[in-house]
Amino acid sequence: MVQDGFEAVNIDTSKPHPARIYDYLLGGKDNYEVDQQAGDQLAAAAPEARIGVRANRAFLRRAVRYVVGSGVRQILDIGTGLPTSPNVHEVAQSVAPDVRVAYVDNDPIVAAHGNALLSRSGTTRIILGDLREPRSVLDHPDVRHLIDFDQPVALFLVAVLHFLTDADRPAEIVATLRDALPEGSFLVLSHATGDFADRSAAQAVYSNATASLNLRTHSEVERFFEGFDLVEPGLAQVPFWRPDTPPPPHSTEIGFYGGVARKTA
Ligand SMILES: C[S@@+](CC[C@H](N)C(=O)[O-])C[C@H]1O[C@@H](n2cnc3c(N)ncnc32)[C@H](O)[C@@H]1O
Repeated sequence: MVQDGFEAVNIDTSKPHPARIYDYLLGGKDNYEVDQQAGDQLAAAAPEARIGVRANRAFLRRAVRYVVGSGVRQILDIGTGLPTSPNVHEVAQSVAPDVRVAYVDNDPIVAAHGNALLSRSGTTRIILGDLREPRSVLDHPDVRHLIDFDQPVALFLVAVLHFLTDADRPAEIVATLRDALPEGSFLVLSHATGDFADRSAAQAVYSNATASLNLRTHSEVERFFEGFDLVEPGLAQVPFWRPDTPPPPHSTEIGFYGGVARKTA
C-alpha cells in the first residue's frame, strides 16, 4: 500500500534490508551490522558483487543521460534505494534542469532518508510505495503531481524486479505500468542473473532478509520488455550497455543484465 507521512520510522535492525545491503556494498554509511554481515556473505558467495553493484549504478547513470538526451523530461524511478550521489535527479538535471523525478521505494528507511535528500525542490519527490501494487503507485497524488502521463515518461526499474517472486506476477506488474505510459516513453531495467555463475549461495543470503533474491535468465528478463523496443545493444551485462569508459576487470562475470527500451505504440 502507498502511504503518506513517514517521519516516524521504526528502524528494523534485526533483518538485513536489500536497500541497506546494497548501500553497504556501494561503500555507503546508511547500513547496520546485520546488513554488513549479509553484504560480506554476499561478496564471499559472489566475488564480483561489489564491482557488480558499482557497474549497475554506472549503467543507471548512463541510462539517465540516454533517456534525457532523447528528450524525456519525467522519470518514475521505482525501487530507488538509499540516496547515492549522484542521484537520478542530479544526473538528469545536469543534462536538462527541467527534468522531474518521482522516486518510489517500499522501504520506510529509504523514504525517510530520501525525504531529506531527494525531495528538496519542486521537481523531485519521494513516495513510499510498493511495486507489487502498481496501480496505487500510478494513482498516488505525489506521482500525479510530478508526472504527466500524457507526456513521455522514463520508467526506471533498476535492480528491483529481482526482489519480486514469480508469485508476485512481475510481468503483469510491468505491463500495468507500461500501459499507463504514452508512446515515446522508455523502460530502463536491470536485473540480477545466475547466467554466468552458480549464485545459489548469494540467493541464500537473502533468505533471512526482508525480500528474497530471484535470479532470472536472459530470456526471462527480456520478456519484461514486451511492448517496448530495446535500443542497441539490447539486454546486455551492465558494463557492456553503451560503456563510456573501458569495462572494469571481471566485467564478463557480473551478474546484472541491463537494458533500455522505447515504447513505440
Ligand atoms: C538494490 S536497490 C536498487 C537501487 C537503485 N535502483 C539502483 O539500482 O542503484 C533495490 C531497492 O528496491 C527496493 N524495493 C524492493 N522491493 C520493492 C518493492 N516491492 N516496491 C518498491 N521498492 C522495492 C528496496 O527497498 C531497495 O531500495
